[in-house]
Amino acid sequence: MVVSAHPLASKVGLKILKKGGNAVDAAIAVQFALAVVYPNAGNIGGGGFMVYRSGNNELAALDFRETAPRNADRDMYLDTEGNPIERLSLDGQLSVGVPGVVDGMVKAHEKYAKLSWGELLQPAIDLARKGFPITAMQAEELNLRKETFQRFNPSGTALIKKKGEWKEGDLLVQKDLAHTLKLIKDKGRAGFYEGRTAFLLLEEMKRGNGIVSYDDLKNYQSIWRKPIIGDYRGYQVISMPPSSSGGIAVVSLLKAVEPYPLAKWGFQTDSTVQLMVEAERRVYADRAEHLGDPDFYAVPVRGLLDTAYQRERMSDMNFDRATPSSEVKAGHPKTDESEQTTHFSIVDKDGNAVAITTTLNNSYGSQVVVQGAGFLLNDEMDDFSIKPGVPNLYGLLGGKANEIAPGKRMLSAMSPTILMKDNKLFMVLGTPGGSTIITSVFQTIINVIDFKMDIQSAVNAARFHHQWMPDEIFVEDKAIAPAVRERLTGKGHTITPRASIGRVDAILVNSNNKLTGGADIRGDDTAVGY
Ligand code: GLY
Repeated sequence: MVVSAHPLASKVGLKILKKGGNAVDAAIAVQFALAVVYPNAGNIGGGGFMVYRSGNNELAALDFRETAPRNADRDMYLDTEGNPIERLSLDGQLSVGVPGVVDGMVKAHEKYAKLSWGELLQPAIDLARKGFPITAMQAEELNLRKETFQRFNPSGTALIKKKGEWKEGDLLVQKDLAHTLKLIKDKGRAGFYEGRTAFLLLEEMKRGNGIVSYDDLKNYQSIWRKPIIGDYRGYQVISMPPSSSGGIAVVSLLKAVEPYPLAKWGFQTDSTVQLMVEAERRVYADRAEHLGDPDFYAVPVRGLLDTAYQRERMSDMNFDRATPSSEVKAGHPKTDESEQTTHFSIVDKDGNAVAITTTLNNSYGSQVVVQGAGFLLNDEMDDFSIKPGVPNLYGLLGGKANEIAPGKRMLSAMSPTILMKDNKLFMVLGTPGGSTIITSVFQTIINVIDFKMDIQSAVNAARFHHQWMPDEIFVEDKAIAPAVRERLTGKGHTITPRASIGRVDAILVNSNNKLTGGADIRGDDTAVGY
């Protein structure tokens, strides 16, 4: 089964599985297909994370997050008075981190794939060369972006329609991208990080004020890491370690709420919402202080995941009154030793499972398409803490742990996650959504385990989100019933409606061993299986 953000990408994955490919083969093909059919987040110019569980319980995590260019420095987005320059870390060539996706896919292929590299690239090449019919949602998004694309790509890009507006069913043909993908097919890593593609990327840097260099590209390496492993009510939770904060945060949230009878209280009742919000407030305060690239900063992983520590953090919560975020500081875990993204989940016939979350950061990243090479570049640099106490795109705060340094990975919230029960695969999930990624994954797990929802209902259920600062509960339209909202407001919570939160794509293994897919109704997401 394959669940991804676009029906054509899901179809590519299914074809690979039917051909005898395993979950990693399908994941590689889906990653490249999404770079063509879902350009707002699918990518080769960005980064991501893969969490893997093989049918015989081998676990792995691959970090193909972007890195800061070697000429980056801590204050690069500040003016002479030390204030952040608006949107400098978000738009244009200077916002770009060194892309990690192609190296990540090469490493995943070397270690786990069955099919040839070329077979996995070909579907994406075909979709780019021949074009594909865009969905209604895509037509609307591309039309909305037209002026931004024109501003950052004065020589044009395939994403701008030559005449008039995009309509549902129009063919999006991306010849330059097809050629770049063909180079990657023929030359592997060198097809992207060296030769023509690297040359075009460096030329693109010169057109703006970009600092990604030839050495940055040549030296980029994705890294195999030890996954985060935690327990929740007898389920094993396997998720992404730093440079993502996702795994630590999801497991911390689950540990914080585990002692309480959520199932008895019920879905989005007063106590349930209060408990989850207070846990989120405390976990995000810790995230801002303690999480960053583990190769640059000693992240107290064990301390944060310690059950006693998480319980102690919750000990001052009060069901009669919201704890103001201003009174919540980061804790002191034992130290013995980091919105627009897309997620896909794949399980093959042997129970191999892949969860990949991949991103350009903002929708369409830096908005810059590499001229002649046809792919969008990320604006992932904004995920660093530009200045202590200054919120990023997602309102997230950070400090020393996540300050900019050459070669360092910017902290992520992406949380590709796999759950097992009694050593058997139970669930695969993840989502886009910037800071809300962690809380969307948390809620979906609880919807299934505590509230016994089927996977589609768990994914569809309305969501809410708290991230310590700002001190607000953000709610989707249908989240938290009006009467509950009123009572929570009376206890000091601030409730702020916002647009949809996350797009979870998940797979659940039912008790009869059948796979069921949950494709988020908030997008064009599609589950396909055989
Ligand atoms: N750029 C969003 C994240 O990595 O969390």
